[in-house]
Amino acid sequence: MKFFIDTANLDQIREAQELGVLDGVTTNPSLMAKEGITGKDNIFKHYRKICDIVDGDVSAEVIATDYEGIIREGEELAELHEQIIVKVPMIKDGIKAIKYFSDKGIKTNCTLVFSAGQALLAAKAGATYVSPFIGRLDDISTDGLNLISEIRLIYDNYEFETQILAASVRHTMHVIDCAKLGADVMTGPLSSIEGLLNHPLTDIGLAKFLEDYNKGN
Ligand code: E4P
Repeated sequence: MKFFIDTANLDQIREAQELGVLDGVTTNPSLMAKEGITGKDNIFKHYRKICDIVDGDVSAEVIATDYEGIIREGEELAELHEQIIVKVPMIKDGIKAIKYFSDKGIKTNCTLVFSAGQALLAAKAGATYVSPFIGRLDDISTDGLNLISEIRLIYDNYEFETQILAASVRHTMHVIDCAKLGADVMTGPLSSIEGLLNHPLTDIGLAKFLEDYNKGN
């Protein structure tokens, strides 16, 4: 399972990279705004900075919602850096654009996916990644993890190569459950990854080992 971090914060991205288990980064316009990055030039510069920190894929989202606009913007983003994955919303023109990008060898991440039908369509269009937003489904009392299972089943039935990128991951149990269900990738805050480290028996065991070592020294 690949671990992506869902942020545009450079310090957090550096920290995750230093942990040695980071496979990529996802961003979105809200995450950019949160860091105070505004205007096309600054946003593009920021994507380059992110690519310089991480070794893996960096999702950069288009703002356009019409076919020509998505193509124009997506091609500009793809030219920025070889690690850029063009993030395209799950709308009709988005699906057409994903098909275009796929035919041209430009990698894509189909975002804002909330149903199995949408995920099927994204795979048919040739998306590299599909991003089901599990946290936002949980927020409206719908089982986000069930969507991961449905998509896994459909993709396995037809051997689609599109990777399931479990997005809107909010906490560590989401990460573990997505791994059990066979999501290819998860993207979430650094805390959801670092939470995997924790177990009280590890802390108690380590304290005891150190105590016993110090007795003999
Ligand atoms: C996906 O790529 C999105 O950036 C993200 O995971 C959305 O998460 P949120 O629902 O926590 O905003």
